[in-house]
Amino acid sequence: MQFNLFSSIENKIKDLRDQINHHNYLYYLKDVPEISDAEYDLLFKELKELESQYPQFITQDSPTQRVGETVSTGFTPYKHQFRMYSLDNSNNDDELKQWHERTLKNFSNNHNIELVCELKIDGLAISLTYENGFFTRGTTRGNGIVGEDITTNLKTIKSIPLKLHGDKFPKLMEVRGEIFMPKSSFEKLNEVRRLNNEQEFANPRNAASGSVRQLDPKITAERELSMFSYAVEFGDDNFEKPKTHFDLLKLLKDYGFKVNATSKKCKNIEEALSFCKEWEEKRFELDYATDGAVIKINDISKQNELGFTSRAPRWATAYKFPPEELKTQLLDIEINVGRTGAVTPVAVLKPVKLAGSVVARASLHNFDEIQRLDVRIGDVVTVKKAAEIIPKVINVDKTQRSEDSIPFIYPDKCPACQTPLEKREGEVNHYCPNFTGCPSQIKGWLQYWVSKDALDIDGIGESLVAQFFDCELIKDPSDLYGLTFESLISLDRMAEKSANNIINSINESKNRPLARLINGLGIRFVGKETAGILAQHFHSIDNLKNAQIEELSAVDGIGDKIASSIKEYFENPKNIEFIKKLKSHNLKTEEAIEEQGEKPLAGMTFVFTGSLTSLDRTKAQEMVKKLGAKATSSVSKKTTYLVAGDDPGSKYDKAVTLGVEVLSEEKFKNLIRSFI
Ligand code: IVH
Repeated sequence: MQFNLFSSIENKIKDLRDQINHHNYLYYLKDVPEISDAEYDLLFKELKELESQYPQFITQDSPTQRVGETVSTGFTPYKHQFRMYSLDNSNNDDELKQWHERTLKNFSNNHNIELVCELKIDGLAISLTYENGFFTRGTTRGNGIVGEDITTNLKTIKSIPLKLHGDKFPKLMEVRGEIFMPKSSFEKLNEVRRLNNEQEFANPRNAASGSVRQLDPKITAERELSMFSYAVEFGDDNFEKPKTHFDLLKLLKDYGFKVNATSKKCKNIEEALSFCKEWEEKRFELDYATDGAVIKINDISKQNELGFTSRAPRWATAYKFPPEELKTQLLDIEINVGRTGAVTPVAVLKPVKLAGSVVARASLHNFDEIQRLDVRIGDVVTVKKAAEIIPKVINVDKTQRSEDSIPFIYPDKCPACQTPLEKREGEVNHYCPNFTGCPSQIKGWLQYWVSKDALDIDGIGESLVAQFFDCELIKDPSDLYGLTFESLISLDRMAEKSANNIINSINESKNRPLARLINGLGIRFVGKETAGILAQHFHSIDNLKNAQIEELSAVDGIGDKIASSIKEYFENPKNIEFIKKLKSHNLKTEEAIEEQGEKPLAGMTFVFTGSLTSLDRTKAQEMVKKLGAKATSSVSKKTTYLVAGDDPGSKYDKAVTLGVEVLSEEKFKNLIRSFI
């Protein structure tokens, strides 16, 4: 009887363990959870309770063992069974080509030698030991020969499988990879530390390293850490090993490890170089830090022939990207007033070459940021290139500050029109409230009007439109449509041909899609995306003007704040006058209702997050819009699908919490394919 009871409990525990491990895999590795967080928590709780009653059935791969319960007194040194090598660097294109030539010389038939290019993850190298499919030990790299045993801490990281998937495992293997903290998690962590007056981490790598080397594994468990695996050392002569590096990455993926999806097979060094160039630019869009690319010979028998130097493999090299951060001097702080009236301080810098381009200006965001950094003119500052096009000042080297430096005094008046600046409740920026009269705001509006996101007037750039305004040829964008050849030709350095081209471009812009026109109006809180939603719903400026607040806020994607801002806009007689002028110049202010038949995704709302590897995000958004759906940037209860690429950030968590269906990139493509 007793025996039966135990065996059924043991089975129940095993079943729960398998279920939870399966859901962990779907959630953390595949990004396609099948159950809600609440259901997951229930399974977990049930397993924990049973295990505490029957500890004899706790196994080392139980998910409950991930949260370290014991306090370690320090880390034990561990001698790696297989040495952890470093990588040699290629510092530029020529050095990469030289490495390639040198490497190929070792083979008599050296045509068609495949390469694999990977991102070099800027994290912390670790080694994971698996014995017969079970995770038994995890260590830091240390000096490559001896590292530290951080098993308990590593067990808290969900992308490290405690038990491998599948059924064919080597007796022993060591998986090598990089622990990292996603950039979004790093920002969140630092924000909390700032609020608690704790020392902030300097960068995601330091944060990852500090987090896995915690004596209390509970702290590690609280930190959002992840791991990309990229290499294996096998300790089993009888195990059939993959023949190429690319197959090895596939095996790692099948075993349940997270493998970076950007890895690519390349036929020759030119393809490898294009991979490097592509990611040198695109790296800022990723939610994890990468400091280069790693180029590896794909064929493992060739790798073995090439072997290692005393410190690094001959069959691989690291192509370093230029650094994302550099120090330079702050020459001045300029105060800009944009088209919305928002005041933004801009750092004027001693020009430096950063990540491939010369940087002479950087964002300082707002007054709070200036205060927080205590940044002063003359300081040596660190500038960082991030996903945004404009680099930002991230910190100040106070050790290099001159004794006579004085704190920056923020202006209390608009530098363009002298109107006293205001700060609205709950907003970080100061505003110039002279929305219709401030020359800086009008110039900003004109520049936005001619830009690609609005009326897209080819041939008129920022400086020309500012010149029109300064010469009093135009007072607002509607005046552009009244410009004549004669008025243009009277301008300094304006040739006949250019004047004609400008008139033609202005005329062409009269027929832009309604969404562009709405976007160009500059209604507060109505950007490109919202303008698209409004055009799709209202089909004309007049319908939009006449819509009541309730009607506006009933539209999916339009909240109360936007609705009242639209209403406020159309209540201002100056704006009504402006729209009248546009109409008198024959601008298109209405759009025919599109056929419903071809809109299979009508009524649906998509949000995209994480880095998509086989799709361009803008194209994907256009695709769903074409099929009748909306593409918005934030997840809400109204979202139909969240399409999650690699390393999705907080949008993913929000979608899971709200029960919004999450689609992997593959599933999204299948869905779209079924309609086209
Ligand atoms: S391969 C023998 N691949 O870069 C294999 N390393 O500077 C050598 N790293 O210690 C490593 N991303 O910690 C390899 N995709 C990648 C990598 C990578 C990051 C790290 C690794 C290594 C360091 C060398």
